[in-house]
Amino acid sequence: MRVIGIVGSPRKNGNTNTVVQQILEGAAEAGAETSTFLLNEMNYRGCQACDYCKSHEKCKLEDDLAELFDEIAKADGIVFGSPIYFGQFSGQMRLFLDRCYSLINRDFSPRLPAGKKAVVVGAQGIPDPTAFKGVYGEFEGQISQFAGMDVKDTLVAAGYHAPGEVKDNAELMLKAKNTGLNLFK
Ligand SMILES: Cc1cc2nc3c(=O)[nH]c(=O)nc-3n(C[C@H](O)[C@H](O)[C@H](O)COP(=O)(O)O)c2cc1C
Repeated sequence: MRVIGIVGSPRKNGNTNTVVQQILEGAAEAGAETSTFLLNEMNYRGCQACDYCKSHEKCKLEDDLAELFDEIAKADGIVFGSPIYFGQFSGQMRLFLDRCYSLINRDFSPRLPAGKKAVVVGAQGIPDPTAFKGVYGEFEGQISQFAGMDVKDTLVAAGYHAPGEVKDNAELMLKAKNTGLNLFK
C-alpha cells in the first residue's frame, strides 16, 4: 500500500503537517510506504482553463504538479492537509485543487480509479472544531465526487496558532495515529 500526504501549509513544522505526519506514521506502522508533498515548496501555477486536459489525458502545464499527479494515480491512500486562512483552505491548497481539473472528464466524472482512501486534515486558530464544518464538508464532497475517493475521516486541529503546538493534544495525536493504522481496514 502507498499513502501520500499533500500539505497546504507553508509551515513544515506547523499544526497541519504535525497531524498529517502522525497519520502517515500510523500508516507506515501498518506496512504502507509513505511520502509527503509540501505544496509550498513546489513550483506550480493555477489552472489556466486551457481545456487541454479535456482532449488529452493530462494537464498541459509541465511543472512540479506533474509528478504529484503521477503519485496520486499510484497511491492507495491520500491525506490532504491545510490550514484555514480567512475561512478557507490556504491558497497553496486551492491552487492545487483547481489543477485537479485534469483528473476529471468533461462530464465531471473521475478519471482516477474509484476507492482510494482519503483523510482530510484541517488546522485553525478558532477553538470551535465545527466553525469551518462547511469548508471541510465541501472538500470531502469534492474529493469523493470528482476523484471517487472514500473519505475515511476528517481531523481538525482547532485552537492552535504556534507551529506544532497541536502535539500537546494527546487525544488528537492518538486519533491521527489510529486513522493511519486503520486506513485500509
Ligand atoms: C493568513 C492567515 C489567515 C488565517 N485565517 C484564519 C481564519 O480565518 N480562521 C481561523 O480559525 N484561523 C485562521 N488562521 C490561523 C491558522 O489557521 C492557524 O494558526 C493554524 O494552526 C495554522 O496551521 P499551520 O500551523 O499548519 O500552518 C489564519 C492564519 C493565517 C496565517
